[in-house]
Amino acid sequence: MTQPLRLGLAGLGTVGTGVVRIVRQKADLLAARAGRPVTITAVSARTRDTDRGVPLSEYDWEDDPVALARRDDVDVLVELMGGSDGPAKAATEAAIAAGKDVVTANKAMLAHHGQALAEAAEAAGRLIRFEGAVAGGIPVIKVLTEGLAGNDITRVMGVMNGTCNYILTRMQATGLPYADVFEEARQLGFLEADPTLDVGGIDAGHKLALMAAIAFGCRVDFDAVELEGIERITIEDIRHAADMGFRIKLLGVSQMTGRGLEQRMSPCLVPADSPLGQLEGGTNMCVIEGDRVEQIVLRGPGAGEGPTASAVMGDVMDIARGMRISTFGQPAASLAQARPAQAATPAPFYLRMALQDKPGALAKVATVLGEAGVSIDRMRQYRHDASTAPVLIVTHKTTRNALDTALVAMRKLDVMAYAPVALRIESV
Ligand code: HSE
Repeated sequence: MTQPLRLGLAGLGTVGTGVVRIVRQKADLLAARAGRPVTITAVSARTRDTDRGVPLSEYDWEDDPVALARRDDVDVLVELMGGSDGPAKAATEAAIAAGKDVVTANKAMLAHHGQALAEAAEAAGRLIRFEGAVAGGIPVIKVLTEGLAGNDITRVMGVMNGTCNYILTRMQATGLPYADVFEEARQLGFLEADPTLDVGGIDAGHKLALMAAIAFGCRVDFDAVELEGIERITIEDIRHAADMGFRIKLLGVSQMTGRGLEQRMSPCLVPADSPLGQLEGGTNMCVIEGDRVEQIVLRGPGAGEGPTASAVMGDVMDIARGMRISTFGQPAASLAQARPAQAATPAPFYLRMALQDKPGALAKVATVLGEAGVSIDRMRQYRHDASTAPVLIVTHKTTRNALDTALVAMRKLDVMAYAPVALRIESV
């Protein structure tokens, strides 16, 4: 096939202009690799007159992305507008109905509507590809759907929000409190327009739900992701965790267990010398474990023009080459509805508390933990000037239920200065 693959590009922000640059600057390379030219026919964005630093005059302009998606001279809708509903979803549905494939970087849309959109696309014999939606430039969707297709995937993990990793590693490096570093990240333009998407773990949770669907052959179920953001992480926790040989990461973990599908996005401690522990700044990391491959680690830029446009173009090139892989790696209609696990796999926990410095205080804590069946692995009390003593405890593996029972009882102790902080320690 030598006819050009004609793109309709909806969304001309950072990633959209990055796609325009690749299509323009690498036309020969793309054509050589795909065996056919890849061109842009028409574009659409909220405003027409903005100078985006790339020439657009040779492309037709559409005010309405739905009209763009329906054009006869567009083969693939490249949806880079974002937003779970609204124009992005309308244009995607219109493209499918008009018989076009869709490439998108829209994690929110797919996390909420992925199953319905994939079913509609496949019923129409079309594809939705979404490499740019997960972990920016890391081709993790390809790795899961293609390279690891011969494995039973046992666990997927990832640090997939660069902003959170920037905040946590910057706190560690500077000793600055969360609020200061959050403000710094805002001024650097790292935060999404709604920062809760980043620091509340939602953006990374969307990505985890998409990976889990492919890894475990089930319908995307973002609502079942146990979500906790990084807002309550203090500089004390960062310091104390480091002191015990750990780093704190906003870590996504998904695994299929006898109790159902576990999907967690929460701040966890990981060993400081592990690949995840050593991940600095805005970089992302995905760790995949399969029964045959064992463990692989993918590391790379999780956002930005070049990396995300690179991922989008990987999908475009697959379509140009005639590759037809189902959206979630198997026909959407065959994806199971996984039962969400009611309780997470047992793990060790880090506990931080402050105790009134009087005889028997520590013994009361140890008793409460013991009565809940939670065993202490390591414990450290810090020197202190005030009347309370900071105490850290690392437990042996325990269930979250047993730990919660202990935490409720600990809060009631008359020696406890504040509610203890508990963070899971993930074995990586
Ligand atoms: N805001 C995200 C991040 C990038 O900080 O990684 C887009 O998903």
